[in-house]
Amino acid sequence: MERVLEPELMEDAVQALAYEAADFSDADALFIARIRLAVGEAAADAPARVADLGCGPGGQTLALARAFPRWSFEAVDGAEEMAARARAGVAAAGLEARIR
Ligand SMILES: C[S@@+](CC[C@H](N)C(=O)[O-])C[C@H]1O[C@@H](n2cnc3c(N)ncnc32)[C@H](O)[C@@H]1O
Repeated sequence: MERVLEPELMEDAVQALAYEAADFSDADALFIARIRLAVGEAAADAPARVADLGCGPGGQTLALARAFPRWSFEAVDGAEEMAARARAGVAAAGLEARIR
């Protein structure tokens, strides 16, 4: 798959809401499978620190945290609207200990 770079921050509240509501579960599952294949089962099951740059509303961050329960995440986004949604999602999932 060719990577398409995101050229700008997604600061618009409506855009953030729409992005958060979208279903990326198929893409997330494929992404997780590819990561697992790339790092190997031993690394997938070992502690690791992951930087999630441009985490958006955090849906993918949460999916990764659930798929790799020994990994911890530093999730950042330049758009406050997105970061706020990510923080809320992490708190709702009770994953503050592993996602900052
Ligand atoms: C398409 S969203 C992807 C969100 C998430 N990674 C996912 O796959 O579901 C891209 C995010 O990157 C953020 N972003 C883009 N450029 C950035 C930059 N230079 N610094 C920080 N965040 C950035 C945007 O605000 C947006 O929330």
